[in-house]
Amino acid sequence: MDILESLSLAGLVPIIKVEDAQDAVPLCQAIMAGGLPVAEITFRTAAAPDAIKNVKQSIPGCMLGAGTVLTVDQVKQAVDSGAAYILTPGFNPRVVSYCVENNIPIIPGCSCPGEVEAALEFGLKLVKIFPAESLGGVKFLKALSGPYVNMNFAPTGGINEDNMLDYLALPKVKAVGGSWMVPSDAVKAREWSKVTEATARAVKKMLGLELKHVGINYDNAPDALEGARMMSMITGLPIKESAGAAMVGAEYEFCKSKKPGTHGHIAISTNDIRRAKWHFEFMGFEFDEPLTNSEGKMNAIYMKKEIGGFAIHLLQK
Ligand code: 3PG
Repeated sequence: MDILESLSLAGLVPIIKVEDAQDAVPLCQAIMAGGLPVAEITFRTAAAPDAIKNVKQSIPGCMLGAGTVLTVDQVKQAVDSGAAYILTPGFNPRVVSYCVENNIPIIPGCSCPGEVEAALEFGLKLVKIFPAESLGGVKFLKALSGPYVNMNFAPTGGINEDNMLDYLALPKVKAVGGSWMVPSDAVKAREWSKVTEATARAVKKMLGLELKHVGINYDNAPDALEGARMMSMITGLPIKESAGAAMVGAEYEFCKSKKPGTHGHIAISTNDIRRAKWHFEFMGFEFDEPLTNSEGKMNAIYMKKEIGGFAIHLLQK
């Protein structure tokens, strides 16, 4: 899987600055505990190369990038330390060309159309937009997405829990980065649980999980309809019958035959089903083959394990 694909499944990149390389491991563990096996360690401190080395050794599952890389020398240090990709705040042609020539994944910072075009010239498909909020935020990214149909964006700078969904809603925005998941006062005080909390909150918000409907299995249509009528009386919601089920409102599905799940299923909708699958897999859940729509896009997917006889499936919002 390439870095564009991996980062777009992760969706979020916490941006880290550590003064002490020893802090990087507990910090990245805290981020992982929050549900995110991704981090960008910035070359804003001299501790960066050792910090990257430490994390690479102790947490091989962490998708580790080196950020704020300003020179070719720093690229070399970052790669030697084990960084899987390089991020830069601005578009430095020397750094970009070194990375491209040496097959080092590079996500250069761009702040204007000219820099996006320079990145296209290098054959890049993903650039960082920095400093995103100051440049005009979502409006700016929408404008950039128009002409550059083959470019994808990972904005950073001023992004936080309140505005992240506005960015992630743009199709060309594959991930957002920021330091808000790694509050500097928490890092200073080594309060790792605060990092876990901030990361977990961000992941939860990004996935936007909501109970969509509950399905109840019957083995024949009359019993399913009888159940649907009772539920309609209780809730006042209308019944809508289809070949396979009777829906009561949008919340209750009375299946006329045995659908997945011993007793039925619980459908949980999400902002991005591919991302949700990826995040749940990181947590150890396994899935069946996805169900796809007419365009071949995944729109539902069942987890392998049931809860109390109910199969769980994710649903694209
Ligand atoms: C970066 O390196 O991309 C930015 O410094 C992150 O900006 P933020 O601190 O506003 O998230």
